[in-house]
This record gives sequence, structure tokens and C-alpha cells, in this order.
Amino acid sequence: MDKLIIRGGNRLSGTIPISGAKNAALTLIPCALLTEEAVTLRNLPRLADIDGFQHLMTQFGVSHTIPGKRPEEFGRNVTLEAMRITSSVAPYDLVRKMRASILVLGPLLARTGEATVSLPGGCAIGNRPIDLHLKALEAFGAQIELAQGYVRAMAPDGGMPGGEFDFPVVSVGATENALMAAVLCSGTSRLINAAREPEIVDLCNLLVAMGAEIEGIGTSELTIHGVRKLHGATYRVMPDRIEAGSYACAAAITGGEVRLEGADAHDMGSTLHALRNIGVEVESDKHGVNVAANGTLKAHNLTTAPFPGLATDMQAQLMSLLTRAEGTSVLKETIFENRFMHVPELTRMGANIETTGRTAVVRGPVELTGAEVMATDLRASMSLVIAGLAAQGETTVRRLYHLDRGYERLEEKLQLVGADIERVGDD
Ligand code: EPZ
Repeated sequence: MDKLIIRGGNRLSGTIPISGAKNAALTLIPCALLTEEAVTLRNLPRLADIDGFQHLMTQFGVSHTIPGKRPEEFGRNVTLEAMRITSSVAPYDLVRKMRASILVLGPLLARTGEATVSLPGGCAIGNRPIDLHLKALEAFGAQIELAQGYVRAMAPDGGMPGGEFDFPVVSVGATENALMAAVLCSGTSRLINAAREPEIVDLCNLLVAMGAEIEGIGTSELTIHGVRKLHGATYRVMPDRIEAGSYACAAAITGGEVRLEGADAHDMGSTLHALRNIGVEVESDKHGVNVAANGTLKAHNLTTAPFPGLATDMQAQLMSLLTRAEGTSVLKETIFENRFMHVPELTRMGANIETTGRTAVVRGPVELTGAEVMATDLRASMSLVIAGLAAQGETTVRRLYHLDRGYERLEEKLQLVGADIERVGDD
């Protein structure tokens, strides 16, 4: 297994190209199941999770072609074609490796009238149930059975009529599964308290490009008029707002000045607002976002929330930054029950952080010192990289497969802006 070696202290300066959004790509790919025509997705990030999802799609008979692109370029275009669905089973050994696989449930059910998907199980940040996915599909007329660790969904003869579902909790994945099922229902469906994340808007935009009829895009009330068939489309995945926010924190903690090429400031609103409050200069234009820091950072309280609130996926990275801020910052994690796994590792690097339940109190500024640290979940791992960039001495980050799931060629992008970072084989 590889590891990253980071020697901290360099001010980051220059331009980082932002890749296509992982969490948008993971819901756009299964849309290919909704039509027998070709769906071409552009600007897909080169990530382990994306490869994994494409492999899963081949289980159902989906072919995919990746036109040649020079390896040094970021991103790639993929054409997916589900002419015929040869199986509607998503097996355990594939689903357990990537919980986003549950997003094939809605489209398989809508296209073939049935779907059997292994239950994803929890992960490091929480038990992450899928009850809301199932309740939404039942509201549309599906019959749901749970047995032997699988969920089996069946549509009535003639297909699902559609229906109305009011989400008791905002759920990105459940909104996505419901949307991908509703578009082929025979009637009209309504989703209330639906997630409003930019990735949901990206999904709606692709579905509309495929011929779906959706009202209220970008709001928490979505009305979907089912259509009999959808056609193919070509669609460019939105830029990754979490990758961009992560590199903004990396620039800020080093007192650097970095342009995030391709980032969309609108998608990053809450993160950019937090960075400004921490004392980071932020400017944006049509093609990207510029962040600059001059070394003095101010403590700031943060609470994660569904969009347009502060993304839970940015909490760990901002916490790293706040270890270097003057004063006391209180961070509240309201989405997942166990999303402070970066805290013990940051503490080993000299951070002063106390956690009680879902609240973390960060006191700074502290001098961070390099250490051998272990990645645990995707965003926690990135927070350790960010801390390592500002730490005195050398930081070694192991278990890089966590990072490779969400950050395309991380060390190359950081080297572009002057970070002293290298990936080596773990002896
Ligand atoms: C998506 O996960 C993202 N993953 C996560 O990003 C992100 O943290 C999360 O949304 C919140 O923004 C992808 O898009 C692939 P949820 P998802 O359903 O859909 C509870 C990353 O780092 N819930 O919005 O699984 C759930 O337990 C990853 O890129 C239910 O109770 O998140 C959680 O507390 C991590 N029942 C809350 O809702 C359900 O049926 C929000 O979860 C579904 C969810």
C-alpha cells in the first residue's frame, strides 16, 4: 500500500485544476440504466469509486467506452449504454466496497420493474441506514422486502404509479434514488423536504436532458411528471465543490495564494463564507475561485447542515485550518454520528481539540508537528494532509486508499502549487 510523505512549511501558490464532482458522478452514472440509448458523461474524475461503479454497471449488462485521452489530463469522458438489462442484482461483494452502489436501486426498479441490491451496511462515519430510500420507493408503489442482507424491490404490473413522500430527514442519497425512480413512473410524484445539494441539481439537469419532466429543481419541493421512456444524452459533470474547498483550506493553512480553476463559487457558498470569517481572502469569477491568506487566521464557530448550510464533507478540513486560528472555535457535526475520527490524529500532530458527542472545541493557534498518521475515512484523511502541509517536519499518511476514493491525483495537484509531498510504496 502507498503512503504520502509531506514536509510542511511551503506556502502554496499557483493554480489547481478542479475535477468533476465524485458525489455527482456517483448518481449520474446509474442514470444510464434508465434508457437503452447511450449516455455520455464528460469530466468524470479518475477515482477508485468511479471505476468501482462502472464495474458494478457491467453486472447489469451496461457497456462503457472511454475514448482515449492523454493520461496527464485530468478527468475523462465515458459513454454508458444499457441496451438490455441482463441482471437486476447488485451483489454483496461489490456493494460492500462502495456504499453508493445503493443508487442503482431506483433506476433498476424503474427500468425493469425489480431490483435486488445488497444492503450497504454502515461505514466509519456512521451506520448510514437506507430506510428513507425504501420508504420513498414504497410511496411510489414499490413493494419492498428485506431478506438475507439484500433489499428486493418490485414494481406492480404496469409499473409504479408514483406518489408523494415527505422526507423526515434531508437525505442526499434517498432523494437521488427517489428521483431516478420517479422519472419513469406512470403518474406524477412529489418529493417534500428533498435534498438541495448541487449534486441533486446536477442529477435533475441530466434527467431533464434525457427527457424527464421535473419542476422545482434546486428547491426542497420536487414535482416529477413520469414519462414512458427516456433517451440518451451527453452531459458534463459539475466541478467538485468539496475537492475545491479542501484545496482552499490547504492554501489557507500555509498562508498561500491559490486559484481553484473550474470551481463554482455558488456551489461552495457556505464554505467560502466560513473561510472569509476565518480571515481568508476569497474572490470568484466565472471560471474559478481565488483564495489567499496572510498567515493570521481567526477562530470561528461552525455547524454542519444540509445545503445551503455548511457541508458535513468540509468539517474535517476546516477543523484542520482552525487549529492554526487565533482563539477558540466550536464545531458542531449535525449530519453523521461519528465524524470526528480525524481528531485523535490531529491531536498527535499537536492540535488542541476536545470533543463531546457531536461538538468539537478547537483552541489555537498551535504549532503543528509532523507525525506518522493513519487515514480513516475520506475527508478525515484530507484533514491530515492539510495539517501536514503546515506542520513542522515530516508527516506520513498511510492507508491512502481512503484518499484515492475522493481526490484525483492529490499529490500531483499539490505539487503543482509547490507542496513538498510525494507518494511512495509502503515498505
Ligand atoms: C451523501 O451521502 C454523500 N455521498 C456524502 O459524502 C455526504 O456526506 C452526505 O451525502 C451528506 O451530504 C455521496 O453522495 C456518494 P444522506 P448519503 O443520505 O446520501 C441519514 C463524502 O465524503 N439517513 O444525506 O449517504 C444518514 O444516516 C461522502 O464524499 C437516514 O437516516 O447521506 C445521515 O445521518 C461521505 N436514512 C443523514 O441522513 C436514510 O435512508 C444524511 O445522510 C438515509 C440517510
